[in-house]
Amino acid sequence: MVPLSLSSDTQSKNSLKIAIIGQGAIGGLLASQCHNLGYNYQLLLRNKTLVKPNFSLQIEDIRQQVTQIQPKTCQIDQAKNFDLLILPIKAYQVLAALKSMQKNIQPHQVIVLLHNGMGTIEQVKQLLPDNPCVAATTSYGAFKPAPAYVKQTGLGETHLGWINSPEPEQVEEIEKILTNLLPPSSWHQDITIALWNKLTINAVINPLTAIHNIKNGELNERKYTGEIEKTCSEICSIMQQLNYSVQLKDLLKRVNQVIEKTANNYSSMHQDIYHGRKTEIEYINGYVVQKGKELGVGVKANQELFNQIKALEKKQ
Ligand SMILES: NC(=O)c1ccc[n+]([C@@H]2O[C@H](COP(=O)([O-])OP(=O)(O)OC[C@H]3O[C@@H](n4cnc5c(N)ncnc54)[C@H](OP(=O)(O)O)[C@@H]3O)[C@@H](O)[C@H]2O)c1
Repeated sequence: MVPLSLSSDTQSKNSLKIAIIGQGAIGGLLASQCHNLGYNYQLLLRNKTLVKPNFSLQIEDIRQQVTQIQPKTCQIDQAKNFDLLILPIKAYQVLAALKSMQKNIQPHQVIVLLHNGMGTIEQVKQLLPDNPCVAATTSYGAFKPAPAYVKQTGLGETHLGWINSPEPEQVEEIEKILTNLLPPSSWHQDITIALWNKLTINAVINPLTAIHNIKNGELNERKYTGEIEKTCSEICSIMQQLNYSVQLKDLLKRVNQVIEKTANNYSSMHQDIYHGRKTEIEYINGYVVQKGKELGVGVKANQELFNQIKALEKKQ
């Protein structure tokens, strides 16, 4: 996976136990990196038949080199023995996954949210108010062409921040571990700004590419400019109401940069609709609509995108 140069010191000093929920695309990249770094980790699975000593995953990195790993596995509702619980799962899967293991979660265990969309922080705060919690977002790319095969499609970067931090002496050790997982990583004093920035990109590119059945780059066409601007402008007004210092031109610039950079890609929502899967729309434009209503900000463009994706999901 990602070429890394870490001192053996970093590896040997990590005694924390990591649990990764699922064996998905991003989860597979994390598992591979834990394997490379010699971390103590296991996968928490919901499918009992996969929990076995010879469980294996093949990971194809960006240079098309394939590594086979054999992580320890545990049924999710039996998992107890971990310090860090990473959730590289869809936003709409977070609450159910945490509820399925809630009886075994201890207040010192650190929850790490790693997904697109927003809205799960509120859910975790309600369900597990005492647990330390990190929220993160990554631009790495991966997919699973087969059930036990993860293909990395792009390098990226990761942004992380504490929502609820543990004792100061624990913070350093945990940050060191998480920093190494999907590098380069940046820690933010207020991660919600990075999450809103990513949400803006997803709220534009994901639904529009899914609705029009196009690659990201086609959003450069003039006919999409108005809709992109309206969608961003509503999010910008919400962010300003929430006291983030943000300008519409900066949000648009960021969105356009991603459209350019990923011109040849199909977005995840495009792929979800194309393959008849549930999308993360409720945690993307749905979250924008909810916040807009709470704050009295107009969200017509986001509501329209939300409705169109829900209609496409219903047709499946
Ligand atoms: N893939 C990418 O390139 C990429 C890039 C950036 C961000 N993201 C974001 O990262 C998040 C994860 O995406 P992904 O593509 O890695 O998803 P994914 O491949 O669908 O993986 C999700 C995994 O979570 C597991 N899971 C879900 N609920 C569970 C539960 N209750 N208990 C146990 N396991 C559970 C699934 O298990 P089963 O195998 O049993 O279904 C699956 O293995 C999403 O928010 C996505 O938008 C993805």
